Amino acid sequence: MTPPVPAAVFASGSGTNLQALLDHETADGLYHIVVVISDREGAGALGRAEAAGRLARVIEVKGRPTEEVATETLSLLESLDVQAIFLAGYLRLIPPAVVSAYPRRILNIHPALLPAFGGKGMFGERVHEAVLASDVEVSGATVHYVDEEYDTGTIVGQWPVQVLPGDDISALAARVLSVEHRLYPAVADHVCEAWAEGRVPAPFALSPVEPGSD
Ligand code: GRF
Repeated sequence: MTPPVPAAVFASGSGTNLQALLDHETADGLYHIVVVISDREGAGALGRAEAAGRLARVIEVKGRPTEEVATETLSLLESLDVQAIFLAGYLRLIPPAVVSAYPRRILNIHPALLPAFGGKGMFGERVHEAVLASDVEVSGATVHYVDEEYDTGTIVGQWPVQVLPGDDISALAARVLSVEHRLYPAVADHVCEAWAEGRVPAPFALSPVEPGSD
């Protein structure tokens, strides 16, 4: 049996996607989260990591040179033999040195159907606000590889979500978030399985049994 891929999760916020990734993990699973890294001392994600018995670390980003952040990050990741990074509500750009040390090994989840409604400043409620201000009838969640920009890396998997008449930001956000919690662990398994078999992951497709269009 192939050992699970040692993974790091980066999170700035409450970490419900981290929790979904933790909850999905099994002893003989395809990935194992060995560390959770945040740029914020009080991030809820750090508490979730500790509650799950995982290493929780703060790496300050604000006001520090990018190279210094990269060196500290890489040294921690390498000491733990981390092979994959899952961004889950991490609000900072990943330093170029970290991106190049983990080519196509860093994933992010975004609460809309990229390439629409993404880019710098498009996070949290702002994404759903912009979706509601447009005339689209479908939003969703996207998992993509991470490059040096915000939300521009190659898309790995998406899950559409209906925008319903009368939706406000919190109703749409909740509907998308519940789909994120299912999409991210599924895509994490999908890419880790391909890596374990020495393949380049194919685009992730929702299986017909998954209620992706509800
Ligand atoms: C999610 O909506 C995710 O798509 C975005 O940030 C949010 C993080 O939420 N990148 P949580 O901290 O996982 O609850």
